[in-house]
Parts: sequence; C-alpha cells; structure tokens
Amino acid sequence: MANELQPAEQDLVKSTRNIVFERLSAQGAGHGMEHVERVWGLAKRIQASEGGQLLSIELGALLHDVGDAKFHQGQERSGEFAREILGNLQARQDVIESVVHIVDSISFRKDLPASKLTLEAKIVQDADRIDALGAIGIVRAIEFGASRGQPFFLPGDESEATCSHRSTISHFYKKLFKLRKRLNTPFAKAMTHQREKFMNSFLAQYFSEYE
Ligand code: ADP
Ligand code: NI
Repeated sequence: MANELQPAEQDLVKSTRNIVFERLSAQGAGHGMEHVERVWGLAKRIQASEGGQLLSIELGALLHDVGDAKFHQGQERSGEFAREILGNLQARQDVIESVVHIVDSISFRKDLPASKLTLEAKIVQDADRIDALGAIGIVRAIEFGASRGQPFFLPGDESEATCSHRSTISHFYKKLFKLRKRLNTPFAKAMTHQREKFMNSFLAQYFSEYE
C-alpha cells in the first residue's frame, strides 16, 4: 500500500485542487470548496486506516462535486469534468478511470450497492457522507434549506413517522440519520458516533425550546 505520493503525483493533486477551486468560485459555489477541502482531508484520514490507492482517493475527493448537478441544470457532470481535467493534466489512464469511477458512483441518489464500488470509491463516499453529519452537517442543511427558501421546521417534524417532508428537519430523517448505518468503512463508522449523537441532541433541544 503506497502511503505517500511521489513528487509528480503531489503536483497533479495540487494542480487539480487549484482547477477545482477556480471552477467552483467561477460558478458562485465558493463555499462548496470548503466542503471539498474537508472531504479531501477526511478521505486521507480514512485511507491511512483502511488502505486503498492514495492518489485516486485524493483526486476523487477533490473532483467529486466539480460538476454538481445543482449548478448544471440538474445534470450531474462531475465524472465528465474529472475526465477532462485529469486528461489535460496528463494523468495516467488507469488513474483517470479509477477517479471517474469514484466520482460517478458515490452519490446518495444513485444508491449503488457497495459491491459495485471500489475500495477507493467507498472511502470517498464515506468522507462525503461524514461531512453531511454533525455540527457541520447541521450548518450545511440549514444553509441548503435557506437557499431554497425551505422552512426549517413544520408541524409534525418531531418524529420521522409524522414529519412534513417539506422542511430541513425532514431532511434529517430522510437522509442524515440514515447515513451512518450505510457507511462502508469501520473507521468512518467509529468517527461518526459523536456526530450522530450531537444531531440527536440538537433536535431534542430544538423541540424542547419550541414547545
Ligand atoms: P453532496 O453533493 O456533498 O453529497 P448534496 O448536494 O446532496 O451534497 O447536499 C449538500 C448539503 O445540503 C448536504 O449537507 C445535505 O445534507 C444538504 N441537503 C441536501 N438536500 C437537502 C434538503 N432537502 N434540505 C436540507 N438540506 C439538504
Ligand atoms: Ni460532496
């Protein structure tokens, strides 16, 4: 297991990071880069514990939202953009294929079975999901909801069974509280226990103040 990048690989990662940063800023998704930087960091930590090819994991993390459907008329274009960016940077073909697989296969909406994912894709998917949890996950959900003009709380949102399906709190039940069970790696599961506990206590506190 290669745990350190060669100098040429480090340059490829650095160039990729800069291109992703430019593209996300240009499309007014500058805050998206903070998410990408966290996912990159998380993916490196998971790789250090679980293995997998480090170069593809780093590139996959950096490129995983580069063609986010939210900014491309509902069409997910990250795989296509990853291929173009890495091709221009003259990355090796096997690295490009591995990264495109990661980027194309990890989305929650696609919901591919883990058996269809490489170890590298499992790791980047875990990193992306971890960043939807905990205090950071709560802030991201609030920001997303606010950007859509979605109410944070609606009557019924105190439980999954009765939730409104139209609020940010509903998103906690529909997605966020389902994520931890679906993480691929033991390392990711262990590090999200506290994040899930915090989300639960945040909601309990919110409901107690609301009463
Ligand atoms: P990513 O592409 O990083 O997996 P998404 O684009 O699906 O994430 O969502 C971005 C952020 O917005 C995540 O933190 C997610 O939990 C949150 N989010 C997505 N859909 C909703 C929603 N309907 N209400 C509130 N938050 C949402
Ligand atoms: Ni993401």
